[in-house]
Amino acid sequence: MGCAGGTDAAEPDRTGPVRLAVIIGSTRAGRSGEGVARWFADRARARADLEVDVVDLADFDLPARYLCAVTPGVAAFIGRVERADAFAVVTPEYNHSFPASLKQAIDYAYDEWRAKPVGFVAYGHGSEGLYAIEHLRTVFTELHMATVRGRVTFDLLASDGGPPVQDGALERDAEAMLDQLAWWGLALREARAARPYVS
Ligand SMILES: Cc1cc2nc3c(=O)[nH]c(=O)nc-3n(C[C@H](O)[C@H](O)[C@H](O)COP(=O)(O)O)c2cc1C
Repeated sequence: MGCAGGTDAAEPDRTGPVRLAVIIGSTRAGRSGEGVARWFADRARARADLEVDVVDLADFDLPARYLCAVTPGVAAFIGRVERADAFAVVTPEYNHSFPASLKQAIDYAYDEWRAKPVGFVAYGHGSEGLYAIEHLRTVFTELHMATVRGRVTFDLLASDGGPPVQDGALERDAEAMLDQLAWWGLALREARAARPYVS
């Protein structure tokens, strides 16, 4: 996989609540993604079966070009992916897909994604981010991940440009997706511990 993969980090603790990484996919100045992620992470934190880690891509110095050394920023990002048992990716729709910042980050890890579940929270201006989700499903399938069926989607134009508030249907969607991520997160954590994942 070239020179940018892997870290020497110790194997993380795989007991207790499922470790859910909520990834903020937009790094855009003035982004809506931060508020959307906060809304979703608060819902996840209310559950006893999940331990939440918000992974904000804007916090990592990820080089725009692949370098033949793992930079501290890349190592830090890979470490957070490695520690997680499950992922919720918060993504806007950009030109009927997901942002380049998110693809760049996804491509910096490899083995650390494998045999883990991922779900999506998506939004757009005029759309609800469904193209972004479907493109991400393809990418994460290539990385040997299980994409859950549940999803949380909304149009920012219909929610005053911010994260959704007091929307019962959206909250039910979030709970259903979190149920699926918790189930798959635990099931695949146990499976990975029982036997190595196939290559
Ligand atoms: C480059 C770019 C392309 C966009 N393309 C779409 C699009 O195809 N469909 C859509 O519904 N919204 C589109 N939008 C609107 C964004 O979804 C909206 O601005 C959203 O707030 C972006 O998320 P962020 O604020 O977290 O970066 C686009 C925005 C940008 C910056």
